[in-house]
Amino acid sequence: MAKFLVQKSAPLKGEVEISGAKNAVLPIMAAALLTDDLCTIMEAPALRDVDVMCELLESLGAEVNARLDENIVEIQTREITEYEAPFELTKKMRASILVMGPLLARTGKAIIPLPGGCAIGKRPIELHLKGLRALGVTIEEDSGNQGPLVATVERLVGNDIYLDFPSVGATEVIIMTAALAEGITVIENAAQEPEIVDLANFLNKMGARIKGAGTDTVKIEGVERLHGVSHHVIPDRIEAGTFMVASVITKGNILIRNILPDHVKPVTAKLRECGAEIYMTDDGMVVRGDVNPIISTDIKTLPYPGFPTDMQSPFMALLAVSKGPSVVIETVFENRFMHVAEFNRMGANIKTDGNCAIIPGGKQLQGAQVVATDLRAGAAVILTGLVAEGTTEVSEIYHIDRGYEKFVDKFRGLGATIIRIED
Ligand code: UD1
Repeated sequence: MAKFLVQKSAPLKGEVEISGAKNAVLPIMAAALLTDDLCTIMEAPALRDVDVMCELLESLGAEVNARLDENIVEIQTREITEYEAPFELTKKMRASILVMGPLLARTGKAIIPLPGGCAIGKRPIELHLKGLRALGVTIEEDSGNQGPLVATVERLVGNDIYLDFPSVGATEVIIMTAALAEGITVIENAAQEPEIVDLANFLNKMGARIKGAGTDTVKIEGVERLHGVSHHVIPDRIEAGTFMVASVITKGNILIRNILPDHVKPVTAKLRECGAEIYMTDDGMVVRGDVNPIISTDIKTLPYPGFPTDMQSPFMALLAVSKGPSVVIETVFENRFMHVAEFNRMGANIKTDGNCAIIPGGKQLQGAQVVATDLRAGAAVILTGLVAEGTTEVSEIYHIDRGYEKFVDKFRGLGATIIRIED
């Protein structure tokens, strides 16, 4: 298994360019199945999850030309030749569920083995199913419990749907399906993440009629046909947030290019509370941890525009070493503290109680052998490795390959010493 060796780092300095957003490109690629025309997706990050989505679309009949060295993916699906997604692919990535809407809209049938992805909680999909049922889809009783989900529809018809929780995936699946349904769909308590706005922009360019994406009420007026488009994916706000924390934790001074400041507001606000200096220039965002002493702050994760759950573990890395105690409350996923055991191996002495973590702060961490327990926790242990004495050995780094493009190269460009050791 490949590993990263991370050395204690001098303050990070220089510039880093943020890649296209993983969580935007995946639904957009799935939405490309909604048309038989060619869709060209630019700023597609070269990630393992994008590779898996390419394979998944190909398995359903799409012609996919991925030139990820140029960050371009071309998708054309003249015909959907298969409505069953292969388990070997869906088990690798929870976002596989996103193809369900387009399959139903184009063929009236979808069979999806239950998705995999990061082990950060139960991650049920009853909200996706509730939304699809409201649009007229029949989902076989008990399907998904043991075997795959089996869904069929004769005619998709718009409806009003209230989501009990603003699930990102459910909002995306419903928007995609409703785009080709007859009549109007209104999603209330919809997720408001920027990636949903990017998906809606992509679909609207294709000819869909979607209003309100980015608010809690999304209205979709179904159309008969969607056409091909080209689209630039938004920058990855979680990758950006990870580099913001990396600068502060190492008392660095870096310029982050290709960042949308509105999308990282909660992270910016919390880093400023910790003492970071952050400002925009014509070239991007400057993040400085070398101006003031870095002190602790409390965080509570929430759906957007609250503090993102995907930034919880990277931010906790900072709290482990900043001055003073702090509390982190995780409200989005019920099992997202697996990184705490890894931080504690390095001397962080964090305690958890349910969805609450208590961090004493102010620790000098020691390099240790740690595991990337999920994608974001993987990034988080690299951050702790940058400030720990000696060498930190990070295993199971395939999680990091799923969601961060050229992670090591980007850190090296800022002066960090991280070596990747292949098997
Ligand atoms: C997406 C992101 C992921 C991020 C998460 C929350 C992608 C590809 N992934 O995941 O990086 O961490 O949003 O910001 O975009 N839930 C239910 N029932 C459902 C659906 C969800 O209870 O039917 C719960 C989940 O168990 C979880 C919470 O809602 O506790 C958030 O899930 P959701 O917003 O659906 O996240 P994903 O779309 O899986």
